[in-house]
Amino acid sequence: MAAKIMKAVQYEGYGGGAAGLKAKKLRVTCLLGREFRHVVVWNLVREECHRKKGVGLDWELPKLYNVAMENERRMMERGNDVKRGGKKMTVEDLDSFVNLGLCSLQHTEIPIPSPKKDEVLLKLEATSVNPIDWKVQNGMLRPFLPPRFPFVPGVDVTGEVTEAGPEVANFKEGDKVIAMLGLPNSGGLAEFAVAPTNMTVSRPAELSPAEGAGLPTAALIALQALRTAGTSKFDGTGKSSNILITAASGGVGHYAVQLAKLAGLHVTATCGVRNVEFVKQLGADEVLDYKTPQGASLTSPSGKKYDAVIHCASGIPWSTFEPNLSAYGTVIDISPSFKSMVAALYKKVTLSKKKLVTLVLAPNVEDMKFVVESAKEGRLRTCVDSIHGLSKAEAAWAKSISGHATGKIIVEM
Ligand SMILES: NC(=O)c1ccc[n+]([C@@H]2O[C@H](COP(=O)([O-])OP(=O)(O)OC[C@H]3O[C@@H](n4cnc5c(N)ncnc54)[C@H](OP(=O)(O)O)[C@@H]3O)[C@@H](O)[C@H]2O)c1
Repeated sequence: MAAKIMKAVQYEGYGGGAAGLKAKKLRVTCLLGREFRHVVVWNLVREECHRKKGVGLDWELPKLYNVAMENERRMMERGNDVKRGGKKMTVEDLDSFVNLGLCSLQHTEIPIPSPKKDEVLLKLEATSVNPIDWKVQNGMLRPFLPPRFPFVPGVDVTGEVTEAGPEVANFKEGDKVIAMLGLPNSGGLAEFAVAPTNMTVSRPAELSPAEGAGLPTAALIALQALRTAGTSKFDGTGKSSNILITAASGGVGHYAVQLAKLAGLHVTATCGVRNVEFVKQLGADEVLDYKTPQGASLTSPSGKKYDAVIHCASGIPWSTFEPNLSAYGTVIDISPSFKSMVAALYKKVTLSKKKLVTLVLAPNVEDMKFVVESAKEGRLRTCVDSIHGLSKAEAAWAKSISGHATGKIIVEM
């Protein structure tokens, strides 16, 4: 019997498809001074943009295309400079190629997957886009992830159970659920996906599919970061302390602020000026615009020192955190880089009182139940940045890559 077919969005290689991969391969060459090669790479990117434009995508392509043309003009200028022995191409220039990962998303039709014995097949309602989705596409976890190409990204989903594997006892056809698919499998940007039952919970009627799909990755890492900061009670009966949450307007940050307030903490938060009111409404006691000098230095307006920092932004050095920490203050970095891991290790081996801890999400169903229950009771809210159809998945991808989401970016099927 022929397999049933579904619509899905996939990619076939790292970075911006062929162009991005070549850009990455050429990065070293470029940095060594063979800058003129970028023109070859850029032509590939441009062709891809032309191709996409040709198939009638109406999202941000004109804007992207203009950026592309401007970049090309600048790069051509630099190319000319090179011939005269001028400046070298920067890594940032090359990243603009690689970040064109959205160019390589392909709309396709593939067979509907079959659930294994302990999995459920879901007809998906919504999925949320997380930065890790396009970071994996850009090769951040290469060579481990993705385990194979073509790859359908998307980890956090809501959907209706249409088939249960033979050993599944707790879910049946017709159940509405929230699930975390796991990074190696992913598969959320599609009409159907299989979910492991050990990371699947019922979706309460109080939560829309979009609100439910926002929760798994972002709310779980927010919860686990707060626990790492020493907060174990989320009913206001725990120890009161001062906490700083950076990028409080983002997917993770907006849950972290709400959970910290449930725990009764004093929250200082950073965000852009357009989101100051939004973050205050989430419950933050003090809000800093990160583009002001006070925001950039992370100084609490009331002069408080932070017992912990849930660091959801990136690119802030230890020297900025250090003077703002209390004697035993800890920075929890949820976007670990090689540099921050080395710094964390250094703090540990030197028995530093002020600590830096890098944190990676440990998916577990108990935490899923906790955040879903909190959301059901109205104590934790998913703020939706934008909702896109599956046919416009590139727009969701581009919004996440831009780094300017307010809350969660959702794709609805
Ligand atoms: N360790 C893990 O397991 C794990 C799990 C989930 C997420 N993460 C990581 O956590 C990070 C945050 O994820 P996310 O989903 O929250 O990202 P996100 O939704 O894309 O964050 C976007 C928000 O961050 C704000 N922002 C950017 N730079 C800022 C800065 N320097 N100071 C203050 N606000 C800033 C932006 O404000 P403007 O628009 O005003 O610039 C925007 O509102 C990502 O690096 C992600 O990969 C890690």
